[in-house]
Amino acid sequence: MKLLVTGGAGYIGSVVTRMLLDHGHQVTVLDDLRTGHREALAPEATHVELPVHEAARVLTPDAGFDGVLHFAALIAAGESMTRPELYWHTNTVGSIALIDAVRAARVPRMVFSSTAAVYGNPTELPIPETAVKAPTSTYGATKLAVDMALTSEAIAHDLAAVSLRYFNVAGAYLRDGLAIGERHDPETHLIPIALDVAAGRREKLQLFGDDYPTVDGTCVRDYIHVEDLARAHLLALDAATPGRHRIYNLGNGNGFTNRQVVDVVREVTGHPVPVEVAARREGDPAELVASSALARDELGWTPAKPTLHDMVGDAWAFYREHVAGQPS
Ligand SMILES: NC(=O)c1ccc[n+]([C@@H]2O[C@H](COP(=O)([O-])OP(=O)(O)OC[C@H]3O[C@@H](n4cnc5c(N)ncnc54)[C@H](O)[C@@H]3O)[C@@H](O)[C@H]2O)c1
Repeated sequence: MKLLVTGGAGYIGSVVTRMLLDHGHQVTVLDDLRTGHREALAPEATHVELPVHEAARVLTPDAGFDGVLHFAALIAAGESMTRPELYWHTNTVGSIALIDAVRAARVPRMVFSSTAAVYGNPTELPIPETAVKAPTSTYGATKLAVDMALTSEAIAHDLAAVSLRYFNVAGAYLRDGLAIGERHDPETHLIPIALDVAAGRREKLQLFGDDYPTVDGTCVRDYIHVEDLARAHLLALDAATPGRHRIYNLGNGNGFTNRQVVDVVREVTGHPVPVEVAARREGDPAELVASSALARDELGWTPAKPTLHDMVGDAWAFYREHVAGQPS
């Protein structure tokens, strides 16, 4: 297929681009590099350096794209509370412009990176796709708005749409000497921050709250390996059906506490990871664990790397090659 990948210079978009190319697809990456990395761009893909709001310049009716995978977004829930206008403009207005371009160019299918953040504080665990959607961050709300736009677009204009709601993505894609992994700036994700501490690039790790009703008082999250996540995108492209918006949660269905994650980081790296307990962060649910039963049943998706050791081990391999030694 001829595919447009927005956000293909970012963590997840670059891994999916690599996997699409390895499966024989032709890929154009649209990314303005606002948070992405030029080095993460796959050399075999065409790169267009544009904001997603200008996607119509690439998605022309005669360009012949078979599908769009839309990763481009700002992703820091905390920042979305202090700069909401930036998140609405980038994530929601940008996505609506992209959907308009998809419609005008008659592109038949679109896969969207949604998030567990649309659920807010869950009312049931593990969380099914039908659970109440009540985001506690602007970030989650901007993503939920796009999910809703895709539902109406599919019904009214026959788009084959798929939203994949990722839980916590971790690990790196390692293949034939190639390593593609996570580098956000500022980094807000637990595993890369803990690796920074293990490598001596940060003094300590802050754990936000240790008085949650969980086994050790720290928050429980569901982690999914980026390689398993990437495979789900290829399955979603095949399963996309005109006139239907399919929505799937993607997680392992196993929760790990923040302390358990830090213990695995200590074990895998062989280094100490000093921890400081800080106050709870507003809007952080105690436990977020996915039910991915629907993705397993309808997409035939099964995670091949479900353990924290798989994820931290691969993340550490990427970290040592590409991050350690760089200026902090
Ligand atoms: N990382 C996670 O754990 C996680 C969890 C749930 C959902 N997601 C979703 O997955 C997607 C990818 O996340 P990631 O971790 O790879 O983020 P990332 O920051 O590494 O990548 C995002 C990419 O999009 C580009 N971009 C952002 N806004 C753009 C715009 N307006 N125009 C053009 N390019 C733009 C950036 O330059 C960057 O290359 C996001 O949509 C995010 O909401 C991520």
